[in-house]
Amino acid sequence: MNISERIKYVGMTDCVKKRFEGLWPLPYGVTYNSYLIMDEKVALVDTVDCNFAEGYLENISEACQGRKIDYLIVNHMEPDHSALIARIMEIYPDIQIVASAKAVPMIAGYHGIGADRVKVVKEGETLCLGSCTLSFHMVPMVHWPETMVTWMPQENTLFSGDAFGTFGAVECDDWAAGEGHLMGAPRQESCLAEFRDEMIRYYSNIVGKYGAPVQAAIKKLGGLDIRRICSTHGPVWTSEIPQVVALYDKLSRYESERGVCIAYGSMYGNTEAAAHALAAELQKRGIPYGLHNLSLGDDVADDLGLSGAIRDLFKYDTVAVGSPTYNSGIYPPALGFMEAIAARGVKGKRFFSFGSYTWAAASTKLMDEMALRSGETLLCEGKAFAQAFSTEKCDMGAVADLI
Ligand SMILES: Cc1cc2nc3c(=O)[nH]c(=O)nc-3n(C[C@H](O)[C@H](O)[C@H](O)COP(=O)(O)O)c2cc1C
Ligand SMILES: [Fe+2]
Ligand SMILES: [Fe+2]
Repeated sequence: MNISERIKYVGMTDCVKKRFEGLWPLPYGVTYNSYLIMDEKVALVDTVDCNFAEGYLENISEACQGRKIDYLIVNHMEPDHSALIARIMEIYPDIQIVASAKAVPMIAGYHGIGADRVKVVKEGETLCLGSCTLSFHMVPMVHWPETMVTWMPQENTLFSGDAFGTFGAVECDDWAAGEGHLMGAPRQESCLAEFRDEMIRYYSNIVGKYGAPVQAAIKKLGGLDIRRICSTHGPVWTSEIPQVVALYDKLSRYESERGVCIAYGSMYGNTEAAAHALAAELQKRGIPYGLHNLSLGDDVADDLGLSGAIRDLFKYDTVAVGSPTYNSGIYPPALGFMEAIAARGVKGKRFFSFGSYTWAAASTKLMDEMALRSGETLLCEGKAFAQAFSTEKCDMGAVADLI
């Protein structure tokens, strides 16, 4: 699949894996993008997940048409992209790996490949392939320390690694035209409109902790006249590039829009009833919200659980967390979400807690304390209600009025 005369798409689509990193549901699948640059020298940019070796190697041999590959550029060592390094080296024994210094011990540790096989590149270093010259730019902690991006000025193309990536398989007849559609999703007015929620979910779930390094990377790359983004997940962006960069910029600044992320855990439905009551009050007032059951297991059909909650945490300025009191503490799925908020350094949200108890309430007080420690402000004191939910015990209309 040609992206341009020199650049070919050789990546793979994964509609099999249920959870990315064993954690994050994939209702629309995911792609592992890899690119071949065909010049006087041939360079392969990143590889794919280990479960897709066969199809991937077929893509490569078809694209190479008998030519050998001179360089394997390793922008990022997370195994969804680096898993097939050793396989590629078996097939192309003369290939030289091109990577950052920090990738060297990782390549040795994962693949037993020594430093003598790696051409270490520094910030701004270039590699001439013939008619085009690549340059390498370090973007540490987006979202691993060894991460770099590869710039191809002759085609104004950025091979950006995970940066500007998104969940979601891509339906695309013509990769040269870029764009494509989010597979299995309703058509919207633009490619980014279709992918926006999956991009926010990808960023917030995977990269969310690293707002400052993403900001540094965006500043560093700001001077480049980027007209094509070839990231490792999702579509190749050929238009809407300012919007794609702006979305990552906004998310990494932790900027959000008006609305409420409602996330709850519930064993017997009482806290759940309160969550639904809050949602209904927001609906009445026309306030956007997302509603997520944090107790969900592997059934990802109609709710994205923790993953969706983290997405909406980044998307909206207010977060409401429901948890019953559990052994004098916070119910574990809700505790997991509270920890996810703290771990990602998400500050300045308006926070509200609620939950059912039976003999001695504890969860809402503990969640309020955690939220304050994370740097949120309390919308009001958390509302604990004994046993069943009712509006008399916990007036969600009054809470919605504060939002
Ligand atoms: C294992 C377990 C531990 C519990 N611990 C407490 C507790 O420490 N204090 C309390 O008041 N209620 C406790 N409860 C009662 C629950 O908080 C109560 O059943 C609540 O209504 C459950 O809300 P839910 O329907 O949203 O799951 C506990 C219940 C279970 C099953
Ligand atoms: Fe990654
Ligand atoms: Fe990745």
